[in-house]
Amino acid sequence: MNVTVIGTGYVGLVTGACLADAGNHVFCLDLDENKIARLNRGEIPIFEPGLEPIVKRNEEAGRLRFSTDIKASVAHGDIQLIAVGTPPGEDGSADLQHVVAAARNIGRYMEGYKVVVTKSTVPVGTADKVKHAIIEEQKERHLGNDFTVVSNPEFLKEGAAVEDFMRPDRIIVGAEDPRAIAMLRALYAPFQRNRERIIVMSVRSAELTKYAANAMLATRISFMNEIANLAETIGADIEEVRRGIGSDPRIGYQFLYPGAGFGGSCFPKDVKALQRTAQDAGKPLRVVNAVEEVNEAQKHVLGFKIRDRFKNELRGKCVALWGLAFKANTDDMREAPSLALIDDLVKAGAKVRAYDPAATHEAKKLFAQSPMVTIVPHAMDALEGADVLAIVTEWQEFRSPDFAAIKKALKTPAIFDGRNLYDPAALRAQGLEYYPIGRRQ
Ligand SMILES: NC(=O)c1ccc[n+]([C@@H]2O[C@H](COP(=O)([O-])OP(=O)(O)OC[C@H]3O[C@@H](n4cnc5c(N)ncnc54)[C@H](O)[C@@H]3O)[C@@H](O)[C@H]2O)c1
Repeated sequence: MNVTVIGTGYVGLVTGACLADAGNHVFCLDLDENKIARLNRGEIPIFEPGLEPIVKRNEEAGRLRFSTDIKASVAHGDIQLIAVGTPPGEDGSADLQHVVAAARNIGRYMEGYKVVVTKSTVPVGTADKVKHAIIEEQKERHLGNDFTVVSNPEFLKEGAAVEDFMRPDRIIVGAEDPRAIAMLRALYAPFQRNRERIIVMSVRSAELTKYAANAMLATRISFMNEIANLAETIGADIEEVRRGIGSDPRIGYQFLYPGAGFGGSCFPKDVKALQRTAQDAGKPLRVVNAVEEVNEAQKHVLGFKIRDRFKNELRGKCVALWGLAFKANTDDMREAPSLALIDDLVKAGAKVRAYDPAATHEAKKLFAQSPMVTIVPHAMDALEGADVLAIVTEWQEFRSPDFAAIKKALKTPAIFDGRNLYDPAALRAQGLEYYPIGRRQ
């Protein structure tokens, strides 16, 4: 099949590469000339495990190409997948300008039948906006090409995006047109060989499903963070509680980890956009409102613990920080809890020496103008001259460090752990102070 992917970011690039790997001819469009130039030089602009060889072999096979040529991109794909960003607008609603611009481009240049698929996370009603944008452009040109708009929200996770795309749990297809549904079934057939994973539903249900899924996961995290904070106050241990409740199959173990708050390019903005949709519909979602409120507070818990340890006097202190990405196995720092912690520490007068295995490039851009923040190339470099260590991302390489070396390097041998990576008793036995989230002191 000929497929066009509009927007070559985390979702678009993975989608394009995986679809090409199944034998499709994929045209990846982006307006960012620099990104397309890098891709055409063989560079992968994002950190995503397993992606590079797939991109390489499909480019070499002539099934995957990258371009900024809008007209050619519209001509290429019978299926046009929109995977552009939908960042939060000022009022929290999803900003649809890129989605609508992509739709207008399709309307402007299309000839013949097209299936236009919104893969971006978009609020209920967006498919109608996409449809109108295409119709308007067609009208201006006195054209009447047939097309269908389908909602096909993406559920891949950064850090495991290739695996998620290749072996999806479910593929949501919001569509009414049998012809479009048949084309999407054919497109996704290679990714669901042992059983059908497509769930066909109305367009509006598909749009809401994506937000409801992310809000549910975010709810579990905020719930656990609140229980963790309570556990700490009343002498219980959240790790014991987590195991206790996770063993109930109705609850399960997934997404029950307390921490320094959720971040990333999806949960924070999708929770906000869902709140906005509900507000506008006159049906405010009280649970979801609380999820956001709890999360905002949770991002400051580590900073509070560090200030508390030094009796609110952080001026002249230096904090070593491990982990900048919002989670392990990605370089994505959008809305990362590390940003809130760094902000708290710098405002309190502390310096920060930070290390991340993948986000160095991103962090150097973000903190180029911040003399209080130094990004270092190795984990132990962060501890040079530091008073304490804070951990914000659960990278594998942080799980079993040389505690004796850490103790020796720090002026105050204390670890503030926003991911509960270690055994409190073992650390204390080695003479380290340990401040995890929600654990018995
Ligand atoms: N990142 C994730 O883990 C994830 C997971 C599921 C769903 N989503 C959703 O998918 C969408 C894309 O997210 P992302 O993280 O890939 O974003 P991203 O910011 O990494 O990439 C978006 C790309 O679209 C390009 N673009 C913008 N307007 C364009 C246009 N008119 N034509 C062509 N290209 C254009 C941008 O230059 C950018 O490269 C969002 O709606 C997001 O909520 C993201």
